[in-house]
Amino acid sequence: MEAYAARHHVPIINERGRRAFLDIVQQERPHRVLEIGTAIGYSTLLLLLHGAADVTVTTLELSEERAQLAKGFWARAGLLGRVDLRTGNAGDILTELTGPYDFVFIDAAKGQYVDYFHKIQPLLAPRCTILADNVLFRGYVLGPERAPRRYRTIVKRLRAYITLVNHTPGFSTEILERGDGLAVTRRK
Ligand SMILES: C[S@@+](CC[C@H](N)C(=O)[O-])C[C@H]1O[C@@H](n2cnc3c(N)ncnc32)[C@H](O)[C@@H]1O
Repeated sequence: MEAYAARHHVPIINERGRRAFLDIVQQERPHRVLEIGTAIGYSTLLLLLHGAADVTVTTLELSEERAQLAKGFWARAGLLGRVDLRTGNAGDILTELTGPYDFVFIDAAKGQYVDYFHKIQPLLAPRCTILADNVLFRGYVLGPERAPRRYRTIVKRLRAYITLVNHTPGFSTEILERGDGLAVTRRK
């Protein structure tokens, strides 16, 4: 899957971010996972392999082509039966889900993280962890360097996400600088 992603320029969680991601998954050992942004199913597979013994994953992906590839990889791993894959716009699908989920991995449209965070609220289990990838976006979100014009909206929206999770009552957030930056938000 790593070779496929590299060859076809599919953005999967990068090597340094992956280690941090795995540390958290292994620490939490989630049972019911919601993943926003499947791509070819690489992080889904990590969640299935390192979550609790009974882990299931609901995962959302816009691209039908990537979703089909993901299914093929999960089938080869014998884990297709543990995944509920929904194709379409995550912002719409989130309003149709029921939950509860004890772990959410946000890794789709970076400009939509604030919207995703609001929409997952009714879906969260009392004890839950929300992990958001790429929140430091190449160092521009909290770093001193001004982002190139084409990235400014994304950077602004990721800053808004960090502010939101830091100020939402009942949650605490830690920003990990590994990979492209991971925000780990837990219900207190
Ligand atoms: C960074 S990739 C996900 C990588 C995957 N989580 C992994 O680490 O293996 C982001 C994915 O989100 C999908 N995506 C982007 N916008 C989306 C949207 N509005 N709704 C659903 N999926 C979306 C993209 O097609 C892309 O495959």
